[in-house]
Amino acid sequence: MEKKKILERFLFPSVKVKQSDLSKAMAGKTVLITGASYGIGECVASGLAREGTTLLLVARTEEKLLALAQGLGQTGAIIHTFSADLRKEEEINALFEYMRLHSLEKPDILISNAGKSIHRFVYDALDRFHDFKRTMALNYDAPVQLMLKLIPALEERKGQIINISAINVLLAPAPGWAAYQASKTAFDQWFRCVSPELKARGIACSSLYFPLVRTRMMAPTAAYQEMPAMQPEQAAQIIFRTIIKRSRIYSPWWIFPAQVFSVLFRAPWEYLITANLKKKNAKGH
Ligand SMILES: NC(=O)c1ccc[n+]([C@@H]2O[C@H](COP(=O)([O-])OP(=O)(O)OC[C@H]3O[C@@H](n4cnc5c(N)ncnc54)[C@H](OP(=O)(O)O)[C@@H]3O)[C@@H](O)[C@H]2O)c1
Repeated sequence: MEKKKILERFLFPSVKVKQSDLSKAMAGKTVLITGASYGIGECVASGLAREGTTLLLVARTEEKLLALAQGLGQTGAIIHTFSADLRKEEEINALFEYMRLHSLEKPDILISNAGKSIHRFVYDALDRFHDFKRTMALNYDAPVQLMLKLIPALEERKGQIINISAINVLLAPAPGWAAYQASKTAFDQWFRCVSPELKARGIACSSLYFPLVRTRMMAPTAAYQEMPAMQPEQAAQIIFRTIIKRSRIYSPWWIFPAQVFSVLFRAPWEYLITANLKKKNAKGH
């Protein structure tokens, strides 16, 4: 077996939930999934669609959402799609209006998954303030706006919020990732601050810290192509397990030693990456 595959199996052991457990947990449930058109969100939508469930799939690419809904037509699930750019407050309001008109305003589960990543060094972004605004708009403002509106209904349904986060927010920051890492960390902090209040009122709050996942999101970063990554289907299984168990957290098994390393070796880590960047600058990269 290829070395990368062996490493992937070691770093991301497979999780497989029982379909009967998932069907039980999903019976009669309405689930709102943001970012359902591609990647992890698409896999989750496909795996959750079954008799007795209602899914509301949200993303910008309407034709992709419609094709997905059509493909899931045989499952017996009721599928709604709504195309919206979640960076725009008025489009989120239009989504709420759609939910009201279609009696979907009380979902049982919100899977906050839509996300945007940008890898760009700050010296390449001096004239690109919009990079920082648009990642913040999608990765922070949008889930805050969605949750503020949905919290009362989720409380009534004793529902669940699943935040799709990234291991980056738990580890030492890396150059080039300021826009993505700051926006994902901002929302992680927001969600962790409000979670005790929500749990006290019966809403399960789950933060899932995923490692690299092989979706179109990682495609533009050349360095990632040869690195071990989780498959989106595996990420979906972890989300299904989170629904069944209403568990509060997922992170890969090795995250704790990596966090300890991040804290203990902060100074040498910063020294090494700075030295590496100096070397690259000297070579004119
Ligand atoms: N891939 C990774 O390595 C990785 C690792 C850790 C965490 N995550 C997190 O996992 C989540 C899903 O990412 P993915 O890997 O599945 O990436 P993906 O394949 O690029 O999917 C992202 C989803 O978000 C939607 N989206 C993007 N911009 C949007 C906007 N302005 N309004 C509404 N929807 C929008 C996209 O749909 P449209 O383009 O149709 O709008 C798509 O459905 C993200 O929150 C990401 O931060 C990913």
